[in-house]
Amino acid sequence: MAEKWTPDSWRSKPILQVPDYPDKGALVDVERRLASYPPLVFAGEARSLKAQLADVAEGRGFLLQGGDCAESFAEHHADHIRDFFRVFLQMSVVLTYASKLPVVKVGRIAGQFAKPRSSDFETINDVKLPSYRGDIINGIDFNEKSRIPDPHRQVMAYRQSAATLNLLRAFAQGGFANLEHVHEWMLGFVKDSPQGHRYQEIANRISEALAFMRACGVDASSSQSLRSTDFFTSHEALLLGYEEALTRIDSTSGEHYATSGHMIWIGDRTRQPDHAHVEFFRGVKNPIGLKCGPSMTPDGLMELIDILNPDNEAGRLTLIARFGSEKVFDHLPELVRRVKQEGRKVVWSCDPMHGNTITANGYKTRPFERVLKEVESFFAVHRAEGTHAGGVHVEMTGRNVTECTGGAREVSPENLGDRYHTHCDPRLNADQAIELAFMIAENIRNNEAEERAVVNG
Ligand code: PEP
Ligand code: CO
Repeated sequence: MAEKWTPDSWRSKPILQVPDYPDKGALVDVERRLASYPPLVFAGEARSLKAQLADVAEGRGFLLQGGDCAESFAEHHADHIRDFFRVFLQMSVVLTYASKLPVVKVGRIAGQFAKPRSSDFETINDVKLPSYRGDIINGIDFNEKSRIPDPHRQVMAYRQSAATLNLLRAFAQGGFANLEHVHEWMLGFVKDSPQGHRYQEIANRISEALAFMRACGVDASSSQSLRSTDFFTSHEALLLGYEEALTRIDSTSGEHYATSGHMIWIGDRTRQPDHAHVEFFRGVKNPIGLKCGPSMTPDGLMELIDILNPDNEAGRLTLIARFGSEKVFDHLPELVRRVKQEGRKVVWSCDPMHGNTITANGYKTRPFERVLKEVESFFAVHRAEGTHAGGVHVEMTGRNVTECTGGAREVSPENLGDRYHTHCDPRLNADQAIELAFMIAENIRNNEAEERAVVNG
């Protein structure tokens, strides 16, 4: 029998990646206040996402998950949210058109504020200060005051998440995502790029299909699914005090849900089976993600699946593989094989970002060709194993940043300083994100052709 779970049972377990708040009284006070605030999402929405992910687990959909590495208080602008949402829609159009499968849309947004760090301290010019852990915890400025963990930041993160979510809901439901606007989602700086031209071609074909359907009596005014889209939020639930404060009992099912976002995931550094993060996650009913890096073994993975998804519920668990472009074939096949052998229902997703970070010209960056290679290898493994390559998980922005090198409009190491804005890891810019979507689309088509060939054998 598993021990009894409560929203605070994680507190008696060992925990990694926690900030050391100097003012414990203020922390308790903030957590109490957060616990009295309205939830950001409803349990019913999380269940609806879980149902859509269950389809992905069964091979009838594709998961697109992406957004900032870390959201920041300083960059909370409507046009950033709009630009991100627009690129996200463009990527999903490309993917839907190619795969003929529904694309489940999940942003790393409206709550993605806490960051695990590889070192507790950062040293610059012999000055040693606590590392930046995300705006929900401390400030990015390199001075002593800014780096002190401040619990009041949790309230700011909560309020920013609410405002961001409000705008996203408006975009998704209020007309912006209407498929009849497929041509208007073109971003200024992408318009003249190779991706812009490829995208226009698809948009033209979709417009033609819509004109045909209109003639048949189906259009956006009569069809909700043409007029709007489902868009869900997700983040790494790293700061467990904040998550506990926003965990609520759903009145319809009597079960606990994390209401800080629709989906939450466990990072690669905090997935020890007997530690606090796994303990917290096992008790909430949301769809959850689990990052799987090179240290994940098949036995270790089975142990975590037993704890996190004991009822083998499809849609509950998304495994997010992030090995690095050179290591996919060393690790992924044995994990996929074991999960398949044991009949576990999971979504397999590929994070081609976190295993491919290097330093160039003094900047943390990711070569776009390595990102592409990791995705390509992920699809190849699933093709070989006869399993469904279910999704991707990327760090991206709608802005014309220069954070990852490469891409059709080559960002060179020398250009990285031009528009390097990220608060944490380097993100794909809009052009690179759409280029990636086209490449994924091609792979989905190849894998499907292979599946059909096997079936028709
Ligand atoms: C992240 O997704 O930003 C992250 C820190 O990933 P990982 O846990 O895979 O390192
Ligand atoms: Co990151």
